[in-house]
Amino acid sequence: MHLIVGSTGRLGGRIATLLLERGAPVRALVRAHSPERARVVHTDPERLRELGADIAEGDLTRPESLVMALEGITHVVSTATSTKRGEAESMEAVDVEGTSTLARLAAAAGVHQFVYVSAYRADASSDQPIMREKGLAERGIAASGVAATIVRPSAFMQDWIGFTLGAQVQATAASGTPRVQLIGDGDLPIGFSDEGDVARLVLAVLEREDTIGEAIPLTAETATYREVVQRMSQRMGTEIEVETLPVGSQITTVPEELAGMLTFMLTISAGWRPNTDTTPQVAERFGLEFTSIDTFLKGESRG
Ligand SMILES: NC(=O)c1ccc[n+]([C@@H]2O[C@H](COP(=O)([O-])OP(=O)(O)OC[C@H]3O[C@@H](n4cnc5c(N)ncnc54)[C@H](OP(=O)(O)O)[C@@H]3O)[C@@H](O)[C@H]2O)c1
Repeated sequence: MHLIVGSTGRLGGRIATLLLERGAPVRALVRAHSPERARVVHTDPERLRELGADIAEGDLTRPESLVMALEGITHVVSTATSTKRGEAESMEAVDVEGTSTLARLAAAAGVHQFVYVSAYRADASSDQPIMREKGLAERGIAASGVAATIVRPSAFMQDWIGFTLGAQVQATAASGTPRVQLIGDGDLPIGFSDEGDVARLVLAVLEREDTIGEAIPLTAETATYREVVQRMSQRMGTEIEVETLPVGSQITTVPEELAGMLTFMLTISAGWRPNTDTTPQVAERFGLEFTSIDTFLKGESRG
């Protein structure tokens, strides 16, 4: 039985669905319902139940709920993060402490493999908070002694192109001149991966003993934001204006309720160190073909 932690999120929901479609036994860890949470749930647990999932109520910040959820589990996949879930729960409490506790309890429960979705530049000594917390989570998993496989994807195109740029283009297109604001100069190469490819890579490493102890990177393609905007312009057949704002500015191209999140994401990307390497050997090893930025822009992502 596979336990999916993060199953109500975008990636965890995809992974749970793919496993269920293959007929694999799945238990989905789901947090107690609250009206606030219902607004941000991306994958409806009821849909997973209909597909055959066993639903276990639990929370990474409540270890006793995890002990029960782990009963009879051979494989754990965790995609859980607090990053997109508001400020009430910190990455330290969920991503670092919660993941480390889950790994410790999984080791004690005799789980055969723990697959954790980390991030491409995970590094416990990084000065970039998300990369640091992911690095600390990996350290917690290693300390637990559980047999673990780490998957380290780079920025998801769905979030870092579709949302950060797409929302701006959509909001400004009606004016006749689509426009995007970037924070920083937009000239840093950024590694991108497709969310569906990440799900397929997680499935590919599951039950592969030769991946235990490894951190497997996934970057389908590297490009600067300016290059991505250029390619979007070509696809649309109309020029997208680019305005660069200094760090500390708030973007103004989208409705107010989106501006905070977009500004946050674009500010983080302005501080990323360049990703210059790609991972063709990962594609070959697992027999996967990764989605390029152009394929994603065409709306033909394999996810
Ligand atoms: N987006 C990117 O560009 C990117 C890049 C590299 C790596 N990643 C990593 O990829 C993973 C998947 O991202 P995603 O887009 O699927 O995230 P997401 O949609 O925000 O989903 C997060 C999941 O974590 C769950 N969660 C949050 N706090 C929890 C807690 N205290 N206990 C149990 N579950 C909790 C959420 O449950 P609720 O629905 O109950 O809130 C949700 O199911 C994350 O680890 C992320 O850091 C993302």
